[in-house]
Amino acid sequence: KEQRITVVGSLNMDLVVMVERMPRRGETIHGRQLHTIPGGKGANQAIGCAKLGAQVSMIGAVGSDAFGDKLIERLEACSVSTEAIVRAGDISTGTASITHTPEDNSIVIVSGANLRCSSELVDTYRDRIGSADTLLVQLEIPLASVRRALEWARRSGVRTILNPAPAVPLSRDLTQLVDFISPNETEFEILSGTTWDDEESLAQAMRQWEYEFGARVLITRGDKGCSYLEGDELYTISAPNVQVIDTTGAGDAFNAAFSVAVSQGMSIREAISFAVQAASFSVTRFGAQDGMPVWEEVLSITSTGT
Ligand code: RIB
Ligand code: NA
Repeated sequence: KEQRITVVGSLNMDLVVMVERMPRRGETIHGRQLHTIPGGKGANQAIGCAKLGAQVSMIGAVGSDAFGDKLIERLEACSVSTEAIVRAGDISTGTASITHTPEDNSIVIVSGANLRCSSELVDTYRDRIGSADTLLVQLEIPLASVRRALEWARRSGVRTILNPAPAVPLSRDLTQLVDFISPNETEFEILSGTTWDDEESLAQAMRQWEYEFGARVLITRGDKGCSYLEGDELYTISAPNVQVIDTTGAGDAFNAAFSVAVSQGMSIREAISFAVQAASFSVTRFGAQDGMPVWEEVLSITSTGT
């Protein structure tokens, strides 16, 4: 049976400039090329789930402009249901201006129409949340809408996964509606208000956070893989070595794959391994959505060990 996943989240047009290095303060430099490609954490994760065979419905908002058309077309091409995506008449589609260097990237987001992904919109499409196996949310839409989506899910006993990106401090009454939360290391620093200098102090920070906030935490750690607690014990599932082309969307690939895997009934450990492999595959491709693997591509990462 196909897993049903509902994503409530953002859609952005990614404006990606390729440069040799980051410009210094006040400096003007030449970029190589500008790519205009569909993105947004919500849309990326929705496509990631669909490529892994899930039946995906997305709730969100774009503007009545060409970027909005493109984003919706791309979702439809990937078989994501877009009936619950509204077109705002008074505000532009969200954008992410991405400066991409061989080493890393930096992203500036303008929310635009993502602000129209309102609590009322979530209420309108609550049936899509209540009938799903898993609800997947991020933080690029208003926090009140994230909360409303989580509340509807909880009411129907739907599993909830929150990718807290970009991170803001969250309150317990929100996090207690969440089954799994998946910050990266920087995001976990923001959530927990702590830093750590070794694995034991990280484990301690995670235990403390889970105890206070009531959600299971999975920390994504780039090429180090992913860390989580089983009982009181810290486990880290390491990432295979791959040739990195573009890390944009690696977190999205992780969250999509983890969501599909747990919805299928894999154990937490298996689901995390699968998600780490999916994220590793995604960094070998340029672009957030083009890097989302199909099932065989995730498995190819293990079998070749690359
Ligand atoms: O996670 C990657 C995404 O973050 C990009 O596609 C960009 O739109 C930003 O939202
Ligand atoms: Na990628």
